Amino acid sequence: MHKPILLGVNVDHVATIRQARGSSYPDPVHAALQAELAGADGITMHLREDRRHIQDSDVERYAACAQTKLNFEMAATDEMIALALKTKPVDVCIVPESREELTTEGGLNVINAENNLTITCKEFNQNNIRVSLFIDPDNAQIDATVRTGATVIEIHTGSYAEAKTLEAQQHELEKITSAAAYAAKQGLIVNAGHGLTRHNVAAIAAIPQIHELNIGHSLIADALFEGLPTAVRTMKAIMQQARAAAS
Ligand code: PXP
Repeated sequence: MHKPILLGVNVDHVATIRQARGSSYPDPVHAALQAELAGADGITMHLREDRRHIQDSDVERYAACAQTKLNFEMAATDEMIALALKTKPVDVCIVPESREELTTEGGLNVINAENNLTITCKEFNQNNIRVSLFIDPDNAQIDATVRTGATVIEIHTGSYAEAKTLEAQQHELEKITSAAAYAAKQGLIVNAGHGLTRHNVAAIAAIPQIHELNIGHSLIADALFEGLPTAVRTMKAIMQQARAAAS
């Protein structure tokens, strides 16, 4: 029996469309509930410091009616830590954040921020909030993650997704495969995400240690043409088939 693979749906870009006009629609909470009905195993919302897409009220409204689980993506700032402790999501995923970036551009440098992250993880662990650190596929970052007390990593798949040649993509895939095996050996739960689409997801879903994939942009783009439930079901089916074929 192969280990199941879970799909976390990131609904940030439903909010991006709403914020572009300052309208009341489309509602990312509506999208979250539709995604859950179509088989999403969790919902991610990234509340950015500049509130460019998800708003505080979106997080509050979804947390109040979640049928699966909220993965609250955030920078490790005092403001976000306080909001997460108030909201009490099942998971927080800590990411680096800069105002200038279009999207999260790289993994956290856990080695540089180890002391602060250790304090943050302790606070979340004491409140039964599971902490995931978003990192590049790098064993030194994995070792530092273990030292912080975080129990989950999310491996940044952006370099894999953006690779320009098949060779470069294969090289990135090997890095992710080996980091996933190393992290699982250290006792971490291994998630992955960023830049995944229905065309590139299979090889990542086939990595046996990966527990959950967090996918947003391509799913919301596919939803424009075929609706969110079909987009979610199709993505999950591709992931599950890849996992089954690999075992
Ligand atoms: N995981 C993390 C930590 C992210 O920052 C993002 C982007 O918000 C994703 C997953 C999803 O990436 P994408 O929108 O490219 O699917």
